[in-house]
Amino acid sequence: MAALITAPRLMSIGGGALAELPALLARLGLARPLIVTDPYIARCGILDRATALLDKAGVPWAVFADTVPDPTTEVIGIGVARLQEGDFDSLVAIGGGSSIDTAKGMSVLYANGGRMRDWKVPNEIPLAGPPIVAVPTTAGTGSEVTRFTVVTDTESDEKMLIAGLACCPAAAIVDYELTLTMPLRLTADTGIDSLTHAIEAYVSRRANPFTDGLAKNAMGLIARNIRTACAAPDDRAAREAMMLGATTAGMAFSNASVALVHGMSRPIGAFFHVPHGLSNAMLLPEITAFSAPAALERYADCARAMGVAEESEGSQSAVARLLDELRRLNEELQVPSPKAYGIDKARYDELLPTMAAQALGSGSPQNNPRIPTSDEIIELYRRVYD
Ligand SMILES: [Fe+2]
Repeated sequence: MAALITAPRLMSIGGGALAELPALLARLGLARPLIVTDPYIARCGILDRATALLDKAGVPWAVFADTVPDPTTEVIGIGVARLQEGDFDSLVAIGGGSSIDTAKGMSVLYANGGRMRDWKVPNEIPLAGPPIVAVPTTAGTGSEVTRFTVVTDTESDEKMLIAGLACCPAAAIVDYELTLTMPLRLTADTGIDSLTHAIEAYVSRRANPFTDGLAKNAMGLIARNIRTACAAPDDRAAREAMMLGATTAGMAFSNASVALVHGMSRPIGAFFHVPHGLSNAMLLPEITAFSAPAALERYADCARAMGVAEESEGSQSAVARLLDELRRLNEELQVPSPKAYGIDKARYDELLPTMAAQALGSGSPQNNPRIPTSDEIIELYRRVYD
């Protein structure tokens, strides 16, 4: 079967790429952007740099700077109202995955109406909304190139997956210099998120030869640079590699899908407000151990791509090295278990059936090499707790 590939129409990639913002808008015939960002980016100088570039090019702009971590239907509703008030023809999303995902939600609702939950997977989104230029400031979610947004339903606390061409940015500006000031925890969490994207894209049942190359490339970049980026935050080569890895992994999973780790990670994030990369990290080693027997060769390739196994090494031994590496990485980057994070055991146990149902409902576990039952998902949640 042929693979269907979605990607932005334009990308500017490299140190200083932010300066290309006015030129990218002009190439796309866009002239009146609403900037979507968060209070930190609005304060730290990055927003000012973007607006100065727009001013210099004579592009009028306005700002919606109220995005929150783990975007909610409530904040997206406010953003859509802001979009309707003005005469905007595009969105410029500047920030981590949350700001970019908020802009995607705004664009979808502006064009299609209804409520966000009307458009969650597997529903199709009929109309594309105002085009988005995405400017990531973290090396993590890859949202700048994906056809997904993840939105938390304020009423039900469900982290909903929304997918389609309407969610894919028209352009991406991938400038690693914007990540040089990311704090350690954010670097570690977003870095493991992107490593998870690459691994899951590679082992996904929907992987294809196009995404395989991207995923392996991303794993190599991330696995070889994540420790340096955390230990030496201003190491430009490591930051550049992490940014390239994150965007490349985003392109891979956007077109091959994520799998069981992401399926199980969203409910932990939604119910216990664990940052996305961190909840992935809590799950990644155990779920890799659970899944590997069903796709030994693929996981062995991951170990080789990450540089933890020799090319000539047998698959069984390569997978053992992969598991060691994932566990060691969690230790070194101080990833807590749900228990150490402070999640209440009774509440966790009580929610397990709901979490398992939401995980399966997202469709992601069905892409896993080993497709789990609801009981197996519950057992995996129990296994990672402490
Ligand atoms: Fe992710």
